[in-house]
Amino acid sequence: MLLIRMNTVKAIYPGTFDPPTNGHLDLIERGAKIVDHLVVAILRNSSKGEPLFTTAERAAMLTECVKPFGNVSVATFDGLLVDFARQEGARALLRGIRAISDYEYEFQMAMMNRKLAPELETIFMMPAEKYTYVSSRLIKGVYRLGGDVAELIPPLVLERLASKRGAVAPEGTGVDLVEGSPGDD
Ligand code: PNS
Repeated sequence: MLLIRMNTVKAIYPGTFDPPTNGHLDLIERGAKIVDHLVVAILRNSSKGEPLFTTAERAAMLTECVKPFGNVSVATFDGLLVDFARQEGARALLRGIRAISDYEYEFQMAMMNRKLAPELETIFMMPAEKYTYVSSRLIKGVYRLGGDVAELIPPLVLERLASKRGAVAPEGTGVDLVEGSPGDD
């Protein structure tokens, strides 16, 4: 007897993506290989302060970046991630772990999400070694100081960063090389 499994897996890859980095794209590529559909979900109401890029700008950049993948889409969400995941009919959340320092924050978040939605699994993946130190915060900080970040972000993000010159981390916006904290994307 031929048994056809219609059991597709949709996963959500949430974050602030301000801006998207090659580390994010690396994770998207890995995630897209193991699930049927991956939704890159941009948090609209981030508590990280005023973002450099608007939600619409981040969505536009990510949409362009994920074009090569046939099974990845981009969305935005507000409120609880688990509510968005349920609304999307997702069965898993995808998160990246770069180093041990990410672990504690990610573990807490995964456990809280499990408490809120036991049916959702969190999948952790590691980006390529060459991106293990890359975060959106560091990119903005280094770029602000004139450093070369071209190998660490998609070319179109570099272009958009250049168009924000002057707005990239003016003093006091928290984009600071020494004030990173676990969970910095
Ligand atoms: O990659 P980031 O920027 O650290 O992403 C953090 C994000 C968006 C995954 C997290 O802040 C989140 O899920 N926010 C939505 C609110 C929520 O569900 N909070 C409870 C999670 S414990």
